[in-house]
Amino acid sequence: MSARLAVLVALLAVAGTGCRQDMHDQPKYKPYRQSEFFADGRAMRPFVAGTVARGTLRDATPFNTGKSGDDFVTEIPVAVTAELLERGRGEFQVFCSPCHGRTGMGDGVIVQRGFKRPTSYHVDRLRQMPIGYLFDVITNGYGAMADYAAQVPIEDRWAIVAYVRTLQLSQYAPETDVPADRRAELEASLQTGGEDEESGEHH
Ligand code: HEC
Repeated sequence: MSARLAVLVALLAVAGTGCRQDMHDQPKYKPYRQSEFFADGRAMRPFVAGTVARGTLRDATPFNTGKSGDDFVTEIPVAVTAELLERGRGEFQVFCSPCHGRTGMGDGVIVQRGFKRPTSYHVDRLRQMPIGYLFDVITNGYGAMADYAAQVPIEDRWAIVAYVRTLQLSQYAPETDVPADRRAELEASLQTGGEDEESGEHH
């Protein structure tokens, strides 16, 4: 250490102790410390009942809960656009397909490794569930499935449920859903084995 640096360090040390004084020992409570002042013996005060953390207030609207009163909503409370479905597909593949499988059959890779197999989305009971129920399962979990409220923001939950409903429809779509002028295309694609961008998938 050079002589100048040594002097500087010494000066700083002196200045440092000068500032410590009593501010260091001021009377104050620290979290989790004991206190004789309060009857429960804790310095930390419990939250007032119903306290909501800043920025997390959620009114009981259909958008926030998937419910209208006590009933699940039957319509998605955001505009269903191609972008929303595209977003839903991406988020579904990240958060849900590991268990539910990319088509919602309940055969995701985690299930193949031994996790409880979820019901296929394509059973009548789940096809007939109001859309708000699907939102509720993501928000609050269901049985062995944990909730995804912390990982998936509300807007994205709606995108996912819109996509899940799309998956459900895709398995039961009648040919008449295809516009008449495009049915020939469908026939042709069926004959060639239905090549599309998802064709690399394993089923
Ligand atoms: C870690 C695996 C796992 C992931 C990831 C997962 N789920 Fe599930 N899910 C399950 C299991 C297991 C069940 C069945 C739970 C039971 O019956 O106890 C289930 C059940 C469901 C059900 C049916 C509830 C019913 O009434 O039968 C829906 C709908 C659902 N999940 C949607 C989703 C959506 C949407 C996502 C993505 C946001 C998701 N799940 C992510 C494992 C998972």
